[in-house]
Formats: sequence, structure tokens, C-alpha cells
Amino acid sequence: MLKNIVKNLEPSSTLKINEISRQLEEKGEKIFKFGFGQSPFQIPINIVNELKNNAYQNKYLPMQGLKELREAVAKYTSTNKNYNYKSENVIIGPGSKELMFLLHVLFDGDVILPAPSWVSYAPQAILGRNNIQLIQTKRENNWFPTSSEIEEIILKDKNKNYLLFLNSPNNPSGQICKNLQEISDIAKKYNLIILSDEIYSELSFEEGFKSISSFCPEKTIISTGLSKWCGAGGWRLGYFIVPDSLNILKNSINVLASETFSAVSAPIQYAAITAYTNDHSKYINNSRNILKAVGNYVYENLKSNKVLINKPQGGFYLMPEFINKKFNTSSEMCDNILKETSVALLPGSDFGFNKTKMLARLSFTDFNGQDFMNNTQNIKKINNDLILKFAPKIVEGVNRLKKWSESI
Ligand SMILES: Cc1ncc(COP(=O)(O)O)c(C=O)c1O
Repeated sequence: MLKNIVKNLEPSSTLKINEISRQLEEKGEKIFKFGFGQSPFQIPINIVNELKNNAYQNKYLPMQGLKELREAVAKYTSTNKNYNYKSENVIIGPGSKELMFLLHVLFDGDVILPAPSWVSYAPQAILGRNNIQLIQTKRENNWFPTSSEIEEIILKDKNKNYLLFLNSPNNPSGQICKNLQEISDIAKKYNLIILSDEIYSELSFEEGFKSISSFCPEKTIISTGLSKWCGAGGWRLGYFIVPDSLNILKNSINVLASETFSAVSAPIQYAAITAYTNDHSKYINNSRNILKAVGNYVYENLKSNKVLINKPQGGFYLMPEFINKKFNTSSEMCDNILKETSVALLPGSDFGFNKTKMLARLSFTDFNGQDFMNNTQNIKKINNDLILKFAPKIVEGVNRLKKWSESI
């Protein structure tokens, strides 16, 4: 009864690990939930209040999204990115994930996915019936593709269309892409469009996040939303910013949107206007400070000659490589880690890496972010005592992982 194309697909591994962790917890086990990544912080209260105030909004909204929200998003993005986007460039969707799916459905060409890639890109590309070109990136290149690796793929057939997914700050590596200029040169030279997934950009640990859209705006679709910086993953509001030069794609996304989800929930869209017009820099800075301190704690306390890690630069994740010859696949290794230490991690193979590479994704969000934030509002430097107090599971989980890595 099932189409061949869906037969081999499984539920998204991030959601699956959350289920497994929950089942183990129900059996009374203490699980260190380093597998699933979502914001540990609550949504700013003024935005929540706007949702309450707008609960009565009952009309279907325009399929591309509420005009006032699109204007707010265009202004917010133009200020941050130094480019003049207009409300017409913005498409509001029920999470950026759904918009990406529609892009896969309408795009005709090869999809270039750097490994590591977020878990849903490849299944979505398969559902979109496009060919996937995987690039195995390297630690010394910050886990991002080089321009020559991208060019090598394109030169095999210059007549095809190509769509590159670039996610910075990256899930799972926690790294920020630095070679934007050389990648944008390739985009300008060939039929290459870039989907720049910037869902973690507000959570960069250093000031001045740079988007590839600053280098080749006419070739870049920006993808982001409320889920990560605003702690609102469950609200399901994301958006694309599509430049005029890619209007043909924008119009087609609108058609697909109108035939599928119609429009995002009206109260959520009204509430989101506040998210993009009020100043939330204090909330964002506090979130960032805490995530940076916790990420660095994990990095400093886990790295060794048996655990290689690049220092986290933004978002919720880092990507340890456990040097060993004991396991055949990263998935086998993560099963053993869960069994021996109760720490849940996701194997690197879920992110497109060769399964024999002993990489895993570690999400450092298993703590009560609101409590942490309320108690460290005016503290510039978050020290280890505060981490032990407000993120005790991170400290214990890292200890367990460290011991495990020394025992294999
Ligand atoms: C890299 C990346 N892109 C996109 C998404 C999806 O975000 P949204 O909630 O907007 O669908 C996630 C969420 O986990 C993510 O990690």
C-alpha cells in the first residue's frame, strides 16, 4: 500500500531519541538527554501575552503570511543583514521545516548536502525526488564544504540546477561557516542556489554573525524562524526570505502552500509581530551567554586525546569524535553509550557521515533554562559553580561520558 519512495524512511531520528529517552525515564531511569535539542528557555513573556491577546483572531490569513508580520520580518532582517528586503520577499510557514519540504518538492535539480547536515534535509530531498550529492566535510575545514568540493560536483554536469544547503551555526557541529566568500563565488559562477538555514543565527557566540546572503543575496534563500532564539519550537512559525531574483521559486512555494497548509495559525502570526518589532536583545544575550558557557564547559571537560571536538561557536550542539576501534558504526557506539552511561547522543551517521566515523551529536540543553536565566541576569561571566548549580545534569553527563571514553 506504500509508495516505494516512503517505504525506507523512518521517523526523524531526533524525535525518535526523544521518545526512547522518555520511555526509559518512565521506567524510572535517569537519562541525560543530550540527544534531542530544543531551546531550554521560555518564550519572552510579552510575546506570550500577545498570543493571549490575539486568541480571538479567527480568519484565514493570506497564504504568504500576515502583511504586518512580513513587514516586521523584512525590516528586522534588512537591519541585521544590511540588505533591503521587502515584505514581498517574506513567506511565513508552519516552521521552516515545512517550507524546506515545499522547496524540495518544487525544485528540479541536484541537492548538495554537506555532511554533517541536519537530519531532515536528506529525507526531504528523497521525497522531493531529487538526486542528493553528499560532501563529506573535514574537521580542519570547520566541518563546512570548501568551494572546490562544491565545484567538483557541479563540473560533472554544468547544465543541471543545484541547490546547496548551508546551515550556520551548524546543527550538529556547532561551527560557523567562515568561507562564505569563496562559496558565494561558486554560486555566482554556476546554476547554484543556496538555502541558508540560519535558524541558530541569533545564538552565535560571537557578535557579528555573517550570512552568505551578504555575499550573494540574489542566489540565497534565507530560512529561519521563531523556534530556536525565542524558545518557541512548538509554536511552529518559520519563514523564508526569497530575493526578487528567485521570484519564480517564491511564487511556486506560495502555490504549494495554498494547496497544503493554507496559512499559519492566525494568533501565532499576530503574536510573532511583537517578536520581530520589540527589542529582545537582553533575552537573546542572556540565552547566548548561558549557552556559550555551558557549551564551553562541555568542550573543556570532555576533550582529550580520545575525544576530539571543535570548540562550539553557536547554537545548542557540539560534535565529539570518540577515538576507538571497538565499534563498527557510530550508531552501535551511541547504543553502547546509552546503555553504559544513560547519556543519549545521536550518531554521526544520522547527519550523513560515513557510519564508520565515530562521531556523535551532543546537545547541551538538558537544564532548566528559565531558572538559569532568572538567576544570572546581570552576571557577565558564568563560572563552573553556576553551571553545577543550574545545569547539574550537564556536569554529571559529561563526567560519565569522559569516564566511558577512558574505558574503551
Ligand atoms: C538546522 C535546523 N534547521 C531547521 C530546523 C527546523 O526548524 P523549524 O522549527 O522552523 O521547523 C531545525 C530544528 O530542529 C534545525 O535544527
